[in-house]
Parts: sequence; C-alpha cells; structure tokens
Amino acid sequence: MTDEVRRLKFEIFRFNPEDPESEPHIDTFEIDERPYMTLYMALSEIRETQDAGLQFDFACRSAICGSCGMLVNGRPALGCRTLTADLPEIVRLHPLPAFKLIGDLSVDTGTWFREMAERTEAWIHEQQPFDPAATEERMSDDIAAAIYEGDRCIECGCCVASCGVANVSPEFLAGAGLNRVARFMMDPRDSRSDEEWYDVVASSEGVFGCVGMMACADVCPKELPLLEVYAYLRRRTLGTKFVSD
Ligand code: SF4
Ligand code: FES
Repeated sequence: MTDEVRRLKFEIFRFNPEDPESEPHIDTFEIDERPYMTLYMALSEIRETQDAGLQFDFACRSAICGSCGMLVNGRPALGCRTLTADLPEIVRLHPLPAFKLIGDLSVDTGTWFREMAERTEAWIHEQQPFDPAATEERMSDDIAAAIYEGDRCIECGCCVASCGVANVSPEFLAGAGLNRVARFMMDPRDSRSDEEWYDVVASSEGVFGCVGMMACADVCPKELPLLEVYAYLRRRTLGTKFVSD
C-alpha cells in the first residue's frame, strides 16, 4: 500500500461536427487522482480547471440514466461508474461509435433508441378497449421477473457500440433492440402473434443478423442476460417458422 498520488493522463477525442473549422484530434490533460475518483469526477475536474469547452454527458451519476457511455481505452463503459483506480495511468477516451456525434465524447443515443422503438412498436399492443375500472390483469411471478429483467436496460448504447454488426449496419437491432423485442414477446398482455413477431425478428436486422461475437453481453453495465435473450428469440422465431410451414 502506497500513499503516492497517481498523475493521470487523459487522451481525449475532440471534434465539433457543427464547426467547419474543427478537425478530429486528441487533446491531452493531466490531473492528480483522488480516492474513489470516477471518470465523471475526472472529466468534471478537467472541464472546470483546464477546458470549459470539453463536451461529455452525465445526468444521474449512478448508472441509471444511461447518458455517460463512452469508449474507455477502447471498451464501451459508463463514465459515472468507472473508477480511475481500475484504469492505467493513461486513459484514452473516445465517443461511442454507431451513434451520431454531438461533440467530443457526447453522442446522440436518443435518436437511435427512438427509431428502434418505433420500428419494433415497443409498446403493449392490446386488443381490448381501455377500461379504467377493470381489475389489473395477473401474470405469473416467473414472467413478471423475466419482463422486469429486460426492463432494467438503461439505454446507454454500450451494447450497440460494442457490436461489429451494428457498427456497419445501422438497421441491426443489436442487444438493446433485441432485448426490447423479447420483453414484449414475453408479455402476455401483448396481443401480437408469433407470425407478426417473425417479421420483426427473423431477418438480418433481427436476431439472425447476430454473428455471435457477444461483445454486447461483455460490456452491458447492467449485466442483462443478452445470450439468453437471443436464445429465446431464436427458439420462438424458429418454432413459428416450423409451425407455419
Ligand atoms: Fe446498455 Fe445493456 Fe441496455 Fe445495451 S442492453 S443499452 S448495454 S443497459
Ligand atoms: Fe447516468 Fe452515468 S450519468 S448512467
């Protein structure tokens, strides 16, 4: 155990796509590490003391809002829950790929997630007219737990950024999108048939576009069971196809 304070060197991608004079480049900043320092704390200190124009996103600072995804030494991670103590003295930060760059480390994940939600119609499709006086429908504890598990996604985009397919095929639903589809397929309140789901899932944009590298599951900060999600989707989809044949 040593009390020596580490001097951290941050090499940070800089680019403002709105500024015609801006060129992508790396800026280097140095700060002293402090106990329990997160990347959020380090970037805030850099912005406060060295460069007020540095762009990055944070809101909750507690791994809930999904705003702070970035590449940390090449790996997608949440800045607010990454401790500098777990990193080497040189920390390279880039924005998440696969999303539109806003500036520096800030990307637009919202447009990707909205388009995915609209494409998969990620809401309950109920055939009964809404009756405010009706008793809430019951479901089994197992199904409720499985749906809850899928709903833990914070839409950080780390899985999308880590996915080789999503990086070259913007239409691919990737971990977050397929997890969302599975969540509604499991929901007994949703009236969509397996045949209807087949059109959404059984294509190169859906689960059959996955080539099995599974970086998504490695980087998901909420440790969602994405392998199980894909297995579930494949089983349901193939079952549908065989039955309808
Ligand atoms: Fe983030 Fe995991 Fe949701 Fe992907 S599945 S957006 S990595 S929380
Ligand atoms: Fe909300 Fe990191 S700031 S998840």
